[in-house]
Amino acid sequence: MSEDVFTKRRTFAIISHPDAGKTTLTEKLLLFGGAIATAGAVKSKREQRAARSDWMKVEQERGISVASSVMTFEYNGCTFNLLDTPGHEDFSEDTYRVLTAVDSAVMVIDAAKGIEAQTYKLFEVCRLRDIPIITFINKMDRDGRDPFALLQEIEDRLALDVAPITWPIGSGRSFVGCWDIAQSRLRFMDRSADKSTRADSQDFYDLQDPKMAALIGEGAHKQLCEDVEMVKALCQPFDKTAYLEGHLTPVFFGSAIYNFGVKELLDSLLSIAPPPRAFQALTRSVKPEEDAVTGFIFKIQANMDPKHRDRIAFMRLCSGHFKRGMKLCHVRSGKQLILHNPTLFLAQERELAEDAFAGDIVGIPNHGNLRIGDTLTEGEKLAFGGIPSFAPELLQKVRATDPMKAKHLSSALLEIAEEGGASVFKTQMGSEWLVGVIGALQFQILADRVRTEYNVPVTFESTIYTTARWLDGSPADVKKLMDSYAACTAYDYENMPVFLVRNDWHLNKVQEEFPSVRFLKTKEH
Ligand code: G4P
Repeated sequence: MSEDVFTKRRTFAIISHPDAGKTTLTEKLLLFGGAIATAGAVKSKREQRAARSDWMKVEQERGISVASSVMTFEYNGCTFNLLDTPGHEDFSEDTYRVLTAVDSAVMVIDAAKGIEAQTYKLFEVCRLRDIPIITFINKMDRDGRDPFALLQEIEDRLALDVAPITWPIGSGRSFVGCWDIAQSRLRFMDRSADKSTRADSQDFYDLQDPKMAALIGEGAHKQLCEDVEMVKALCQPFDKTAYLEGHLTPVFFGSAIYNFGVKELLDSLLSIAPPPRAFQALTRSVKPEEDAVTGFIFKIQANMDPKHRDRIAFMRLCSGHFKRGMKLCHVRSGKQLILHNPTLFLAQERELAEDAFAGDIVGIPNHGNLRIGDTLTEGEKLAFGGIPSFAPELLQKVRATDPMKAKHLSSALLEIAEEGGASVFKTQMGSEWLVGVIGALQFQILADRVRTEYNVPVTFESTIYTTARWLDGSPADVKKLMDSYAACTAYDYENMPVFLVRNDWHLNKVQEEFPSVRFLKTKEH
């Protein structure tokens, strides 16, 4: 296979705290990539908020966010696959899974707020996987914190070296642009430019050019010269190896709303972000240049099209040249799957995937046979591990309002669990269903889906349990534990045994009693 095909691909995600500007930046990246003609097309923040506060519209909200869960665009001869990470913390489990499918990430930080809770959580996931991160400090057009303080915070809290590539000149109303340290150029921000179009203003001068002082003002020029000296003295120079290993982050300052800094970010994704990497399967490492197609399912989404009850499994291709109509082996079941209608996702539309390569995300219409973590190959018995399920942080009992519909409820819950929408557990005693989620919003979404998609209205009841642990040990030990604690043990949708936890004391006591059994907080698919 020509090396160009996969080296010219960048599969990445944006990580940020809600409101830092992820949506705006996404939109501007698509604008520069020519994937959308004007900004405002991805989704309106207000629309999103309105939907969030109105449960009848959860469906609609999902429609909006789903349409943009993968966005593919071209820029300077390179294919960019931008994977959306749902911003709301209630959806964090989905976000973690998305991060298993990317090769790098862009971390967006609000200049006035620094590193916020959700950014930190997502960063930790990136760190676990050594995902290289480019930092974009956004909203420089507003009053923000001192740039050195922001860099210090990144270094201290994230234990990451920082290498500023651009440096802001002024801040808030007096922000005029950035000095490009790498290229020794001034990038001037034009506030009057039409923010919804691709126009970007870039005038090039040298730092010592007398015209600079005239352009940005004596004071700002003096400050900039001092700052640049300090940056050189205090910060690491950019080191590509350290970035690729996840020890150093190049930093850009910008204003997504003014399209400022977006082009530099895109250029750096092109020049320094890694192409598709090798993926570790349980038996061996799979390289992108291998000829045979391999991939894994990292996300399953229902209702991509609200008019039809369809389900799409998202597959990250790890190697090979994928072609429409290909026959792939579904390793878990050993069955063959002919992919007649694989989909590629562009910014606003989908198209049939005639060809795809390592790094690409292919959507496969799914009728329940594909699950998160499944591997597809041309026949080799491979399994890509490492896609986590997390122990729930909230647990409730769920019942069909109409007892005649109990059976329907079971199949609905199992299907939703397979998609990773919630954890479901069937208790040993009484065969009751418990639903476990990470954030309370998921209960509402689940109820809404079971009602609208399966026609089963449900009610929730509180339980005495706070979380659950997957049990791992010899079958004899696990059985003994399940027999001794029949009232607080259950099975998940894959029939894996779990222990339902009341509180820490309860958990510790049983752990002491069964030291050979492991109580797992995460389950890897
Ligand atoms: P998110 O996806 O990370 O949650 O953030 P989003 O892009 O929706 O941005 C959150 C708010 O911050 C939006 O304002 C957006 O317009 C604003 N914003 C984003 N980038 C910049 C920037 O570079 N400078 C400034 N000044 N503001 C920025 P909003 O009022 O909440 O929504 P909207 O009504 O403007 O859409």
